[in-house]
Amino acid sequence: MTVDEPTTTTGQPFPAPATTDDPTWWRSAVVYQIYPRSFADADSDGTGDVAGMIEKLPYLHQLGVDAVWVSPWYPSPLADGGYDVADYTDISPDFGTLDQADEFVARAHALGIRVLIDLVPNHCSDAHPMFQAALAAGPGSPERDLFVFRDGRGEDGSEPPTNWLAVFGGSAWERVTEPDGTPGQWYLHLFAPEQPDWNWDNPKVFAFFESVIRFWFDRGIDGFRIDVADSMKVDPTFPDMPVDPATGLATREKYVGSPIFDRHDIGEIHAHWRSIADEYQAKGMGTKTFVSEAYLTPASRLVQYVRPGHLQTTFNFDALLCEWGAASQRNVIDLTIAAHAEVGAPPTWVLANHDVPRVVTRYGRPRSGMRFTPEGVHPDDLMLSWNDLVGTPIDLELGRRRARAAALLELALPGGAYVYQGDELALEEVEDLPEEALQDPVWLRSEHTVRGRDGCRVPIPWSGDRPPYGFGTATPWLPQPSHWGPLTAQAQDGVPGSHLELYRAALGVRGQHPALGDGTLRWVDSGPEVLHFSRGQGFECLVNFGEAPVELPAGAQVLVASGDVTSGVLDTDTAVWLQV
Ligand code: NOJ
Repeated sequence: MTVDEPTTTTGQPFPAPATTDDPTWWRSAVVYQIYPRSFADADSDGTGDVAGMIEKLPYLHQLGVDAVWVSPWYPSPLADGGYDVADYTDISPDFGTLDQADEFVARAHALGIRVLIDLVPNHCSDAHPMFQAALAAGPGSPERDLFVFRDGRGEDGSEPPTNWLAVFGGSAWERVTEPDGTPGQWYLHLFAPEQPDWNWDNPKVFAFFESVIRFWFDRGIDGFRIDVADSMKVDPTFPDMPVDPATGLATREKYVGSPIFDRHDIGEIHAHWRSIADEYQAKGMGTKTFVSEAYLTPASRLVQYVRPGHLQTTFNFDALLCEWGAASQRNVIDLTIAAHAEVGAPPTWVLANHDVPRVVTRYGRPRSGMRFTPEGVHPDDLMLSWNDLVGTPIDLELGRRRARAAALLELALPGGAYVYQGDELALEEVEDLPEEALQDPVWLRSEHTVRGRDGCRVPIPWSGDRPPYGFGTATPWLPQPSHWGPLTAQAQDGVPGSHLELYRAALGVRGQHPALGDGTLRWVDSGPEVLHFSRGQGFECLVNFGEAPVELPAGAQVLVASGDVTSGVLDTDTAVWLQV
């Protein structure tokens, strides 16, 4: 099979290519996140793979997304689910080959679907040959200077160089044994010890990542999602952080002036990457884009990452973290839109990803948001906070109803939007994974007190009425619940009112309606419990957060609704798109 003339797995030709180079495509794009390990397992070894991604492209095309973002597909020991990269320019043998990756990109493009991949620039895997060389070369070597090695404190250097904490728990420093067998220097790892941080003050690191970006752009990749885009720079004076009186440990807050997050000079890195993308665009090689992952608040701080000449888009996690409530949601929407307007960037809405509990589960609990304040959301201790909710009462039916309404709200807002795999099927968080199955480093680093993020990474149910639900034929790497039969893509396909058909309908309308995607909104007052806005061209969106049903405007045509609106009223936790 050649990549020039793609055919479907049934041998039928794909529809004609739809990708034209619209230089603003990213301002409105709906991007579907593929977590490759859990998406589709074509070779039936229990782990998803690129061949499975290729097989499912027609499904994604039918869903109606504009692009996919593929979480890391690189060789990795999987100490952090692939965010510990051992080779930035190859594909994990568990997932397939570079040729298959090329085929995936070509076939996606043939369907008009663009492809973003994950760039993990803050850290690599401790198995990366450059880190292994740094260990072998010893203190003071140029190899070590590619990473952040320091001598320890105390007489024998046995204390970490600073009090900084790793995101996954414990110190952010790990001591090494030197080549001569003596206890030696410490290296920085803001995440797991298996993820040593690169030294971005070394121009060789700059050059290395430039070569990685060019490698993938040359292969036709349309852009990158930048992992922890706010963390590559550290304060070169290595100060201790303030101690949190509640814990006696360094604070986890990303305060302005933090020595490890959102440093004042981080934009130099972003601007350099943008210049590479602009160069490709100028050469007619397509519009390349970036989306930054940075849990930064308030939005006025976040949007510095998307000011002119920097990254184009950045996930808006304030909306993800916000509770299900009219006032809070409106507040987040207003703050987000206003902050993005200041820098001329489109907002990027996201309901979930592979790091947070599934949206159905979040909205099914009385506490559906995270510490929202008028200034924004405080993202520190997120995993801990969510962990505390596991096992507390939940109403999944309520969560599903709200998730449907949330999808229509997200997809109606100005800007781009991301859909996490399985959210279109209304999957819930799997909170009862057996402890022996858990693989998240958070579980290990918290000494088995915080379960971590595996519950949203359970392999996708495609068909059938029992595990592995067409994911493959082998036992999946994480066990699937026995009750997911009605949630498979096959079970929902063509069923009016199913979650999948709601997504298809909404994305279909969004793809056609001139008012949706990039642009602005205008609020319409329909009472404190209702979010009601218009987008021009007669498009209106209403979401009822209150208990009481709300009358729909007379004479309006229903484009899509998340629940039954045939009686002319909008019930609680329901959304509708109207043409008025
Ligand atoms: C953010 C990624 O989404 C998450 O999965 C990962 O653990 C951390 N960055 C570290 O790379």
